[in-house]
Amino acid sequence: MCGIVGYIGKEQAAPILLDGLARLEYRGYDSAGVAVYSERAESLSVHKAKGRLQVLSDMLQGGAALDGTVGIGHTRWATHGAPSDVNSHPQVSRSGKIAVVHNGIIENYAELKAFLMDKGVPFTSDTDTEVVAQLIDYFYEGDILQAVVRVLHRIQGAYALGIICADAPDQLIAVRKDSPLILGYGEGCSFLASDVTAIIKHTRDVGYMEDGEVAVLTRDGIQCYNHLMQPIQKEISHVDWEIDAAEKGGYEHFMFKEIMEQPEAMRRAIFPRIKDGEVYFEDFGLTKEYIRAIRKIYIVACGSSYHVGMVGKYNLERLTRKPVEVALASEFRYMDPIVDENTLVVVISQSGETLDTMAALREAKRLGAKVLSIVNVVGSSIARESDVVLYTWAGPEIAVATTKAYSTQMAVIDLLALYFARVLGTIGEEEYRAVLEEMLRLPGKIEAVLADRDDIQYFASQYFNHNSVFFIGRNVDYALGLEGSLKLKEISYIHSEAYASGELKHGTISLIEDGTLVVALGTYSKLFEKAMSNVVEVKSRGADVLALTTERHKAEMAKTANAVMTIPDTHDLLLPSLGVVPLQLFAYYVALMRGCDIDKPRNLAKSVTVE
Ligand code: F6R
Repeated sequence: MCGIVGYIGKEQAAPILLDGLARLEYRGYDSAGVAVYSERAESLSVHKAKGRLQVLSDMLQGGAALDGTVGIGHTRWATHGAPSDVNSHPQVSRSGKIAVVHNGIIENYAELKAFLMDKGVPFTSDTDTEVVAQLIDYFYEGDILQAVVRVLHRIQGAYALGIICADAPDQLIAVRKDSPLILGYGEGCSFLASDVTAIIKHTRDVGYMEDGEVAVLTRDGIQCYNHLMQPIQKEISHVDWEIDAAEKGGYEHFMFKEIMEQPEAMRRAIFPRIKDGEVYFEDFGLTKEYIRAIRKIYIVACGSSYHVGMVGKYNLERLTRKPVEVALASEFRYMDPIVDENTLVVVISQSGETLDTMAALREAKRLGAKVLSIVNVVGSSIARESDVVLYTWAGPEIAVATTKAYSTQMAVIDLLALYFARVLGTIGEEEYRAVLEEMLRLPGKIEAVLADRDDIQYFASQYFNHNSVFFIGRNVDYALGLEGSLKLKEISYIHSEAYASGELKHGTISLIEDGTLVVALGTYSKLFEKAMSNVVEVKSRGADVLALTTERHKAEMAKTANAVMTIPDTHDLLLPSLGVVPLQLFAYYVALMRGCDIDKPRNLAKSVTVE
């Protein structure tokens, strides 16, 4: 989604803004722009361009063409108004004095626009953001902060705003409501960003703005205010990951780098949480009494995080015997869910900023449930609003298609299931030990799968030109198929669907014809025979079958399938943690062979902060 960067300091702002925007490119965007206050011209200098950031950067000679030490920059993901130079941000008020960058949506923009037009204010763009710039200008009587506050009382919706004013070049104003915004504290300079990756090169000391807060950034520091405009002291957090964690480090794509980082990410997610043979969570806010009293668990998430929830349901129910429902966050908030104080709502989110997931979290809390979140981005909104947070420690994930975040979310939900089962006494000692031991072996086994990637690349070369693919499986293999299918379609643009194998014959099998590619997932031992029957079923209708199974079943599967990808044997509960890796690699290599823009697939954004 849109990205914001802001800088005020002693150095030239434009190169810093462009570099920050480049680090936000992964979020997805369709146009970019910057506004800098020029001391020489004593006015704002605003430049915007549709398309890649490189277009803007070339236009500004990497920033050298712009003079000024305070400015704001933006990468836009169109919501109101088509992608175009004029609809790009910053949006500037009619006096030319006020420039605004905005993430989110101003819901009552039409009403405010009508009000301003009635007063004779001319509009140049189709954006909701221009309304903010024009309204600030309308209320401006010499004090920019005061004008911003008056506007905040009138706008509704979600917004992170960065604002500069030509009359007040010694400050940059930031506002946050329902859209993330981070403050950066430097020596003689201050920063603003929608994502820490944009500013980590300059400072590791950051403050996370809360909803309703306003901040005034100057060269000497940052003053924050709460929603009543009372001055507040912001807690400063230190970001401890290295900048190269957010760089490609010699890999052609972030996605491939992140696939290869999974063993290490899994070690970070699992190892500190197994101590003296027991699952251990630091600062775990749920008491044993509370866990015993849970009547229902809801898992709520979007996209791949939802797919983790699907596997989580199987594993949690199997180990704890508590009923688990999985809901798409975008549905949960409108479905009048049956939730009370004995319901635990588990929300899963890599970014910790997905708007639907955030809204579901708030709805769950409003209904009296406790919320436990599984989140990757430290300090994100979802993490901060949850009763309990379990971080995945995957490190920054830059590629739009998630890989290492998915794997680590899965590891954390498995650990949670084991922890609950131990408290509830629903797991035998032997099985508990067996699963824990296997969890410790997972990173090594993922390394083994990655080492065999040439085979998967070869299979991709055989199938990359198919136009339609079905992923089939039962139980956890079905949940895994959902993720394999999403990975493939989102980065390769091949139409792909995941089906519970048993459902095929209720309609969809009519689509199977000569040469249709079916990826048949048969990792779950208990249901292997059934998986085989489904392979025979689709093969007899002409499908090409690429199967995925464990070493134990490879030979049997190879008798029928056209090609077989294998994973090492492991405990049943952990199969999806290994099974997902060949599917990620398959999707990656197929997309590579089709020449797709792997890290930034069309129409997709990394962090979905609009509904
Ligand atoms: C797919 C993908 C998305 C996300 C979804 C939720 O590869 O990455 O489907 O899983 O947008 O995002 P988070 O986990 O940040 O809430």
